[in-house]
Amino acid sequence: MTAVQASDAFVFFGATGDLAYKKIFPALQAMIRRGNFDLPVIGVAWSGWGLDQLRQRARASLEEHGGGVNAAAFDKLCGLLRYVDGDYRDPSTFDALKTQLAGATRPLHYLAIPPSMFPVVVKHLGASGCADGARVVVEKPFGRDLASAKALSATIHTVFDESAVFRIDHYLGKEAVQNLLVFRFANTFLEPIWNRNYVDSVQITMAEDFGVQGRGAFYDEAGAIRDVVQNHLMQIVGFLAMEPPATTYQEAIRDEQVKVFRQIRPLKPTNLVRGQFVGYRKEPGVAKDSSVETFAALRLEIDSWRWDGVPFFIRAGKSMPVTATEVVVDLKRPPLTRLARGSGNHLRLRLGPDLQIGLGVQVKIEGDAMVGAPTELLMVHQHACDEMSAYERLLGDAMAGDPTMFARQDAVEAAWAVIDGVLGDATPVLPYDVGTWGPDASVHMADAVGGWNNPVQSS
Ligand code: BG6
Repeated sequence: MTAVQASDAFVFFGATGDLAYKKIFPALQAMIRRGNFDLPVIGVAWSGWGLDQLRQRARASLEEHGGGVNAAAFDKLCGLLRYVDGDYRDPSTFDALKTQLAGATRPLHYLAIPPSMFPVVVKHLGASGCADGARVVVEKPFGRDLASAKALSATIHTVFDESAVFRIDHYLGKEAVQNLLVFRFANTFLEPIWNRNYVDSVQITMAEDFGVQGRGAFYDEAGAIRDVVQNHLMQIVGFLAMEPPATTYQEAIRDEQVKVFRQIRPLKPTNLVRGQFVGYRKEPGVAKDSSVETFAALRLEIDSWRWDGVPFFIRAGKSMPVTATEVVVDLKRPPLTRLARGSGNHLRLRLGPDLQIGLGVQVKIEGDAMVGAPTELLMVHQHACDEMSAYERLLGDAMAGDPTMFARQDAVEAAWAVIDGVLGDATPVLPYDVGTWGPDASVHMADAVGGWNNPVQSS
């Protein structure tokens, strides 16, 4: 096996755009500060800018999104930064890029551009020789449905082998999401109970207490299912439900994850409730008669030996009462119900904005009666402030050539296959008020397992 070689140049298309501003410059500064980044950084865009303007943009980005400008790191970044201005449809743009690459043999190309531009950029990267030995990073959305996801991959594969494609789902780069793997597979006590014999149901809630934040035009093309369920929340399901990646083979984790996606039954309209917050249609960029969902609640069933009969309830919504992403694994009740009122035990894994692990237990109520009452042991609570950003982590992995925490084509397609049948208007979109937990129909969806566990706002 040949050793994986690190990238020797970092190229980002869409250098003057939003993603570069919010995520890429901050990640670059953070990597430089950590002392593990020293290679040419080449921004490409078609804005009529020069290098000085890009440097100013980088400064503004760091001020707004990078926790402030670190003088030493910023100087270093400015020294590494180069800029190519040109039309993505014009081969001379790629000749200029080739010149800037100055002999780099393993560049990393980050396509921080709309997917509609991928075919033309990929084609020219190939024709100009800039793709030789290169890796490519692409951002979600990875297609709009199963068919377009396949077409997108086919386009990229005309030039890049799948092993050179790094699809970023930033949830995979989150500390708390990666911790799911460690927590599950590095703790002996969990394995005996982590299955249909002891688990009653699993819930995942991704609540955001804000609306579409000026992204109406983008969001109205997507909706909650495409925006966060098909990718972020499915990754969480994969980590919760997969079998142990029992070998050190580099693809073991991704192999196990895709197996889970393939075992999930295609979602039926009866297992989905879609909602739209009141006022969404007045957002700039949103169609006045939009039927796009800003909330989705669904029930997944996994046809596997481990999970048969255990429902996975998933909820994601904008304009909810709080901002929090949380998993609750409810365990079956113990046999002697006279000792315990209410439900059995649970494990609560909070994935954002902070990391918490709580264990729901029954403890004897003080006094004469021999009965317990539910309480929760908060086992771990880490605030997110020092967290390495998901983008920093993932860009570092991509440059090192480690694909483990990136979405592989087969997994992307398997995740689409689960929801493909309910996309669009397969179910009605029901209104809900801002600051509530979604339409009534969703509130009652989980009644059979004791109802939804609503996360509380972080203190
Ligand atoms: C993005 C979605 O991928 O994830 C947004 O497009 C969503 O709509 C965001 O708000 C949530 O990410 P995080 O890291 O804040 O939970």
